Amino acid sequence: MSQTDSSMDQLFNLLKEAQRQLDAGFSNLPPTSSIVLGDDAAAILQEVATRLHDNYPYAHPLYAGQMLKPPHPIARLAYALTMSVNPNNHALDGGRASSTMELEAVAELAKMFGLSSYLGHLSSSGTFANLEALWVSGQTLPGRGIAASDQAHYTHTRISSVLRLPFAEISSDSTGRMDMTALRQALETSDIGTVVATLGTTAVGAVDPLPQILELQKKYHFRIHVDAAYGGYFTLAGNLDDDARAAFDLIPHVDSIVVDPHKHGLQPYGCGAVLFRDPAVGRFYKHDSPFTYFTSNELHLGEISLECSRAGASAVALWATQQLLPYNRDGEFARGISLGREAALEFNRRIAADSRFLAPNTSPQLDIVFYAMRSPGQTPDASSALARRVFDEAAKRNLHLALATLPLRFFPPDTFPGYRTGSVTCLRSVMMKPEHRAWMDQIWQRLDHAVEDARKS
Ligand SMILES: Cc1ncc(COP(=O)(O)O)c(C=O)c1O
Repeated sequence: MSQTDSSMDQLFNLLKEAQRQLDAGFSNLPPTSSIVLGDDAAAILQEVATRLHDNYPYAHPLYAGQMLKPPHPIARLAYALTMSVNPNNHALDGGRASSTMELEAVAELAKMFGLSSYLGHLSSSGTFANLEALWVSGQTLPGRGIAASDQAHYTHTRISSVLRLPFAEISSDSTGRMDMTALRQALETSDIGTVVATLGTTAVGAVDPLPQILELQKKYHFRIHVDAAYGGYFTLAGNLDDDARAAFDLIPHVDSIVVDPHKHGLQPYGCGAVLFRDPAVGRFYKHDSPFTYFTSNELHLGEISLECSRAGASAVALWATQQLLPYNRDGEFARGISLGREAALEFNRRIAADSRFLAPNTSPQLDIVFYAMRSPGQTPDASSALARRVFDEAAKRNLHLALATLPLRFFPPDTFPGYRTGSVTCLRSVMMKPEHRAWMDQIWQRLDHAVEDARKS
């Protein structure tokens, strides 16, 4: 994670050269006085750097905890360069080049999912993109409910409440996927207009069974929204299991899709995306605000998005990253996604073969691994307490894991004798950096020592 002087020199030299090229485009303007930064600015920046020590080392492979992945250096550079223009992708007047780049970047996302016609744009986050998709659902089918599994992202309940649409929680099965019997029952008894299929749940990376949901759609006629904020880029992976592959391959048949380039797409935060299969949904966005400054007949992104101001720099960073690492199934970007999954499978194999751990019912569907700790007495409480101690001991060795409280039904029935319902605090790792595969032995060694010390304490 710490950068060598030569890699920093390379980064900032590239930025300087690109900044010169950018400035040359405006050299016909009379010069203005530029802001000179003095000692105060240097001192403030030093303080900023020092205060930023108070973070986990997210970019390092020994950070194997939450869903956090560093942006690619080209994304960092492109974003930083664009900041000197600070375009606003709401309207072409505020960001001409970056709006065009957004359209091109979104076209790559659509191509990745196999969509031939679509309407789509970037957004500030997965939450906002989901809000927009469900807003369109509500506009299309007013008053009809939203159904999502109990493992769907927590914001779907909130979003439904903001949109004043009834929300139905569908239970998940023993692998964390939406339970089809429960969904069928809900469709029989409630007026459900949209089913949210999560392709990659936040907690355990489960992939909802889209093929069966599409089958149910034939009888019950609902919209399908795919929340692939975390999982979307796995459509490029070469090593998915058959169920996950089948679900990702059917994405072109759903009504809307959300994917977050700021998760697996190597982007800085502030980069989500929503895509609609039917471009005609653009009609819902019409507005005639006297303040907007649409001055041409060309498409302004503000005409097809709920948000007004949006960072043009996000679009530029994504575009630049796609130029360097195109979304080909046999390309370097796709290999990075597959490597993370390989790391998760290898980590899970080691967990399952070691009696100090309690492995769940299934191996990872994407790149999230979770497990409970075997503890004296085999109760969920004792196991949870031990997991927390392992978490602390691992951190002392610079291995940063995450904790997640998960239902006991995700584990085989005899895992906690006498306990069938309730939950247990587990250890969880999102293996989302390609380097995690090469660092597996280091990760395992540190975990091994952390477990030994936690069991003694
Ligand atoms: C499946 C899923 N949906 C939605 C979100 C929310 O996305 P964001 O954090 O970009 O708002 C997340 C975040 O982890 C997620 O995993």
